[in-house]
This record gives sequence, C-alpha cells and structure tokens, in this order.
Amino acid sequence: MNRVIIFDTTLRDGEQAPGFSMNTMEKLEMARQLARLNVDVVEAGFPISSDEDFEATREVARQVGTLEGAPIVCGLSRVGLADIDRCWEAVKYARRPRIHTFVATSDIHLKYKLRKTRAEVLKAAVDAVKHARAYCADVEFSPEDASRSDFEYMCDVLEAVIDAGATTINIPDTVGYAIPQEWGERIARIRQRVKNVDKAVLSVHCHNDLGQAVANSLVAIMNGARQVECTINGIGERAGNASLEEIVMSLRTRKDFFGIDTQVKTEEIFRASRLLSHITGVHVQPNKAVVGENAFAHEAGIHQDGVLKEKLTYEIMRPQDIGRSSNKLVMGKHSGRHALAARLKDLGFELEGAELDKAFKKFKDLADKKKEVYDDDLIAIVQDEMTHVLETYTLDYLHVISGTSIVPSATIRLSKEGQVFQDSGVGDGPVDAALNAIDAVTGLKGRLLDYQLRAITGGKDAIGEVSVKVDFDGTVVTGKGASTDVIEASARAYVNALNRAVHPVALRVKESGP
Ligand code: KIV
Ligand code: ZN
Repeated sequence: MNRVIIFDTTLRDGEQAPGFSMNTMEKLEMARQLARLNVDVVEAGFPISSDEDFEATREVARQVGTLEGAPIVCGLSRVGLADIDRCWEAVKYARRPRIHTFVATSDIHLKYKLRKTRAEVLKAAVDAVKHARAYCADVEFSPEDASRSDFEYMCDVLEAVIDAGATTINIPDTVGYAIPQEWGERIARIRQRVKNVDKAVLSVHCHNDLGQAVANSLVAIMNGARQVECTINGIGERAGNASLEEIVMSLRTRKDFFGIDTQVKTEEIFRASRLLSHITGVHVQPNKAVVGENAFAHEAGIHQDGVLKEKLTYEIMRPQDIGRSSNKLVMGKHSGRHALAARLKDLGFELEGAELDKAFKKFKDLADKKKEVYDDDLIAIVQDEMTHVLETYTLDYLHVISGTSIVPSATIRLSKEGQVFQDSGVGDGPVDAALNAIDAVTGLKGRLLDYQLRAITGGKDAIGEVSVKVDFDGTVVTGKGASTDVIEASARAYVNALNRAVHPVALRVKESGP
C-alpha cells in the first residue's frame, strides 16, 4: 500500500493529558474538523474510563461516524472483556467502527503493574481480540511499552493476536524511549519475524519524551509501517505524541524522498490546530513546526530579500498548503450579513439562522470599534460562539476604574436564569478587581491558576483573546473570552470557566443517529 493511514488520537491520548480535557460538545466539534481534515481514523475516547468519555465516544460515532465518507471511529479498551463490551457499546453506531485493545508486554509493566506472567498476558491478549472480533471486523491491538519489551516475546504476542483476528497491530513507544535508527530496525525486524504480519496493517504510536516522536514515526514508515498514530499540535501524555501536521507535511513536502503520501486535506491543518488551541486554551509555541505563529515568517533581511525575489529561496511549504489565511482585510462596517456568511464559508464555517445572526451582531460591534476586520478576527468571533458551555451566568455589564494612583475597582452585573445580580470588587489591577467582583456576585471563590492573553491580529485595536485556568473549590476548569477590551475579555473568560465549573459536562448533545 502506497499510502499511510492517519490515525488521529487527539481526542483520546491527547485529551487525557492534564490541561487538555474536552467536554462532549468540544470533542464533537473537533471530530467534525478531523473529518474535514480527512484523517482515516478518529480515536474518540476510552469509553470504560468514565461516563463522560463513554458518552463523548458514542456521540462522535453517532454524529460524525455516520456521515458520508466519515472516518473510522475507534474506541480504546484494555484487554478485560467488560472494557471491550463498553467500548463496543460506544463505537457501534459508526458506519465503520473499530475496537482498539491493548495490554503491556514489557517485563517492567508485567512485574510491577500487571503482576502477571508472560503466558497470562499472551492469553488475555488473544481472548480480548477474539472477543472484540465477535463484535467488530476491525480490531486493533497494541503491545503497550513495545520499545522496552522483549523482542521475541512481543513478536509471539503479535503473531497470536493476528491469528486471533487483529486487523491492525500497533507498536507503541509508550514512554518515548526509542531512538530513530533502532526504532526503524525494530519495525523492520517485526516484519521479518512475525510470520503472519502481512494479514494486518502495521502501525506505530510514538511519544515525544526525547523529542523523537515524529522522527520515529517517519523512520517506521520507511521500514514498512502503514499506519501512524498522531495528534493535532502533538498533544498527548507528558511531552505529547507525534504531531499529525509535522508527519503529514513531511510526507507531502518530501514525497520525492518517501515516495508515499496520506489522504489528509492539508488545507484544513491550520484550522484544526487553531480550533484545538481555542477549545483547550493551550496555544502552540510560536516556533512550532508547520502551525506555529512564526512558521512562515521570514525576519532576517537576507531571507526577506530572497523570498521577495523568489519564494522558493527560503520557503519549502506555502502557508496556503496548510490553509493559513492570508489574513486579508476582509470587511468593513458597511458589509452585510450575506457578505459575512460568504466570507465565513470560505474560512470553513457554515453558519445560518440564529448562529449567523449572533455572529453578525458581534461582527458589527467589532467593526464599530475596530477600523479593520481581518480573517483571524472573524475566526475568533465564530469560535467564541462555538464554545459549548451551558451559559448559567452571562456577563451583562462591566465598569472598571483604574489608574496609576487609585485602587482599581470593578462593578459587575451578571444574569442568571432571568435574574440580574450586581456586586463590586477591588484588586491589584483592573483584571483582578473584575474577577473579584464576579466572585462577589456568585459567592464562589475562584483561584486563578493560569492566565494567557494573546492579540489575534496586529495593531493597537486588535482583539485580545484571554484563556484562563481556574480552580473553583477543587474543580479545575478552563475558560476563554475575546474582546477588543482586554479587561472585558478577561471577565468573559472567567465567566466562561465559571459556567464550566457549575456544569462540568455540557450536555447539549443532539439526539441523533440510530
Ligand atoms: O502510549 C501508549 O502505549 C498508548 C496505547 C494505549 C496505544 O497510548
Ligand atoms: Zn500513547
């Protein structure tokens, strides 16, 4: 097969990392974008791990996995038969469901974690695959901690699970321990040693603890792997997983070298990256390959000179290849609703009815405040609308007094279920005062753990996007808010977090599918 299967695990391995959790609606939003990106497989969750994860996996299977041309929807399960039953209950709605079952094969894990013998683990793996195959024709098996597993024993397990019906065997570098050359050799040796290896797709799943995840994934492809597991922005346990955008663009840009490609629609990469950052509130570093803010910025004079003369001098990919907008000046305050809808459609957001009305109102407000409205401003407006949180509290009014020689104070009015509540607060600065005023209104004391402010576009009148992480009495939540006024953006982000704390799982899931 001259194509690599892209298995995206942003919603499972990525989401399980601290600070990246997503509710059902957010996972659905992300899954829709992964479908637009045209990944082959979406691993939507680990259904036995919690009711929320079960529900999110099920809804991705129902609402995204049933669409025309939808990706395979996969759920993770340990080898316990009850895990597999639960996993099947969640993924069975998809047109093309997959059960992914795993058990560790390294002696370290067998001795200290599982407290089982090699023979017991081999039997459990075979039983699990047989059990999963009774439900589903598409079953993946992973020998966890493969890079530190005894090679012969791991190959015995792989051979046995393929005989039991596994259709994909995935080799994880669970702790990010492998070095490219040895990892490539290990994959090549598996292909020689496992007799029935041709009956399954060979896959890898690389973690980034030593910064080798993408290199290890690529070297595995060079040695015969035909599926790679990866995540948007490389999110995942600890230092993360292999980054999808880096693998895909390496294969695309260096097709001359690899001679192999994926079916990913690369023009959707940037939007996927931005959506994930927006949902999780975690932005990628500016110098991140492919999707970082500076990935296409040429600062040095000599580079700029070269690029102006001929882009090929310093540019190996074009921003439009990953769907980075030219950030054009799009519209002014006289632009109408149709023009907005059309521009949003070009940017990949199809809004109509009440959603479009809301976005249009926000656009008009913004155009009144800001002379120039750019594509990125529009994206911020729309993504703000798409923040799926039940709005128990809404911000009605904010008044702040601040300066160099007075104690900053703020008055806040919030509405809740038709009633309006007002209070005030003081603080170190205007943001602190506004957040204290919100606490005074709600009677809930939030502890701000993280605060990030980012200008969406350049200029003094840029929209500021604020992401916060707040601890409300042991419930840690994130929140986002955007405005041309950074104090308002901060208050909105805090109220957004507050709404998540009072409704930890936003259940606005449409009942659809079988
Ligand atoms: O890192 C790992 O080993 C995993 C497996 C479940 C594939 O995430
Ligand atoms: Zn992993």
